[in-house]
Formats: sequence, C-alpha cells, structure tokens
Amino acid sequence: MREISVKAEKLQKKFGDFTAVDSVSFEVEKGEIYGFLGANGAGKTTTIRMLCGLLQPTSGDAMVAGFSIKKDPDEVKKRLGYMSQKFSLYPLLTVRENIEFYAGIYGLTDAVIKARIPEVCTQVELEKLEDKITGDMPGGLKQRVALACAIAHKPAIVFLDEPTAGVDPILRRRFWEIIGALSDNGTTVFVTTHYMDEVEHCNRISLMHSGRIIKEGTIPEIKKAAFEKPILEIQTDTPVKAYDALNKVKEFNGDVSIHGALIHLITGMETAGAKALMEKALAAGGVEFTHPEEVEPTMDDVFVKLVKNYEAK
Ligand SMILES: Nc1ncnc2c1ncn2[C@@H]1O[C@H](COP(=O)(O)OP(=O)(O)OP(=O)(O)O)[C@@H](O)[C@H]1O
Ligand SMILES: [Mg+2]
Repeated sequence: MREISVKAEKLQKKFGDFTAVDSVSFEVEKGEIYGFLGANGAGKTTTIRMLCGLLQPTSGDAMVAGFSIKKDPDEVKKRLGYMSQKFSLYPLLTVRENIEFYAGIYGLTDAVIKARIPEVCTQVELEKLEDKITGDMPGGLKQRVALACAIAHKPAIVFLDEPTAGVDPILRRRFWEIIGALSDNGTTVFVTTHYMDEVEHCNRISLMHSGRIIKEGTIPEIKKAAFEKPILEIQTDTPVKAYDALNKVKEFNGDVSIHGALIHLITGMETAGAKALMEKALAAGGVEFTHPEEVEPTMDDVFVKLVKNYEAK
C-alpha cells in the first residue's frame, strides 16, 4: 500500500503583500527521493521551512509524518531531520561533538548517542574522522557532518535544502549515493537543488517558479511534457553565427538555444525534414559544424521550456 510521508494542500506563504509560496499541493511517498527545483527565490526554502514546522503557512496545510504542520508543528519537528541551506555546525567542535549536540536537541540519551555515532558516521562515510575539528574539514565533508547531524535521531523524513551547493562534482556524486542508501532503507528524502543534472537521482521532482509548482512528475514524464518534438543538436566553433543562421529559418518557428559549443534546435517538424533544412541554413550562413544529431533534452532545456510555456499562459 502507498504510504504518504508528506501531503501539502494549497500551502501558501505571504510576507506582507508578497506571496513567496502560492498554493502548492503535492504528495511524497515513504522512501521516495523527492526533488524540489527552481531558480533563486522560487520559494523552495520557504516551502521546506513550512513543512518542517518552522514557519506557519498563511493558508493551507500539510501533513508531515502523520501530523498537521498547522496544528501540531512540535510533533512534526520530532519526526524529521532538517539540513538547512546555510547549515550551522560548530567549527571548533569535532565531528562527534557536533553530532552529540544535535542528537541531544532531539532528545536522544547519552548512551544512545554514543552507540549511534559510529553508525551514523559510517552511513555518511566519515569513518575515522569522528575526532576531527569540523572547521578544518573541506566543504564537501562538512556537508556530510551536517547530514549526520540531521539523521542521527533516525528521522522518518529528512529535508535537505541544497545539500550539495558548492561541492565538487565527485563529492556531490558520493553525497547522492549516501542519500540513495538512506532512501533504500525507507527514509523519505525531500531535497532541493540548483544543479539540474542532479534530478536524475530523484524518483520524482517538482519544478517551482515564482512560488508555484509548474510541473511535477517523474523525469521521463516531465521531459515528455516539455518536449513532444525532437531536439536537434550540432557542435560548432561559431555558436552565435549558427544561432543567427537558424533563427532566420521561418519554418523552424524559432526555438534555438546555445549551450557552449552546442546549438539546440527544436522545431515542430519531423526529424529528417528538420535536419535537412537545418544543414541547408547553416551552409547558407557559412557555419562550420559537426555532429548533427537528435538528442534527449537536458533538464536545463526542460526547465527553460516549461517556464516559457508557463509564462505564455
Ligand atoms: N522572511 C522573509 N521576509 C520577506 N521575504 C522573504 C522572506 N523569506 C523569503 N522571502 C522571499 O520569498 C521568496 C522565496 O524565497 P526562498 O528563500 O523560499 O526561495 P528559494 O527558492 O529557496 O531560493 P534560493 O534558491 O535562492 O535558496 C524570495 O523572493 C525571498 O526574497
Ligand atoms: Mg533556498
């Protein structure tokens, strides 16, 4: 049977006249990794803070771990772990002392904490680093300490607000492996990110824009909703020239974008016809290019397209 960990219903937050979160509704299943994506200021942190019982909604409600964030924020808080966007560890304390401190806040007894520390350090791959001073550790490892602090009391749900921000790609990948293991063990993970490539690690995602959820679903579902039509790609040393040449072709109905040395062209035409026309237009514009082929949309493409569609409405 489907077990729901988080159910938000028309959750809204206003700061004065400004609506930061505008009537969002969604469900997260137990054990899922649910990704919240959106540009700066989209309303991700505000949503998380409401779900964690730290900020009262202006209207609407959410059930988190079986409790209403409006009526029982304290019951909610006990059942979750929260790694905030600007998490604060005590830099002069060791890894062990930081975890002890946070686990203490959650009411774990000294004996339980003592037994739990080696376990949680293994979980976040910080074995043998328990006695290191946190302030001396590189950013990617500090992030793991913050995660250890958020999960030491074995919460049913963890909220991670941009847990991989500023971390190098290799450590980011490792971090996602750790998150994957948490979810495999039945912990529900609610996570926000700016890195579009990271959505591949999520079971389902929500795209947030200006306080609203503009699309929700699995990645294939979202890609399909954004692009029914194929995307053609070329590689070129003169992307701006290629961009101009392709934008001149009326039949394409102008959806051309530059991604470094790559150009993406989306048309309403079928692939073979569009490809022939594209090659002709580039040749006419004197553009040299290689690798003309149909490609899968990246999440960046998807996000830009869905925001465009949303704003056109
Ligand atoms: N306490 C507050 N008072 C007034 N406005 C606020 C407050 N907190 C957030 N906001 C505004 O609400 C909007 C949403 O902010 P929020 O922090 O939720 O966005 P976000 O999606 O987490 O962005 P980021 O990716 O930068 O973390 C922003 O315009 C922000 O300036
Ligand atoms: Mg934020």
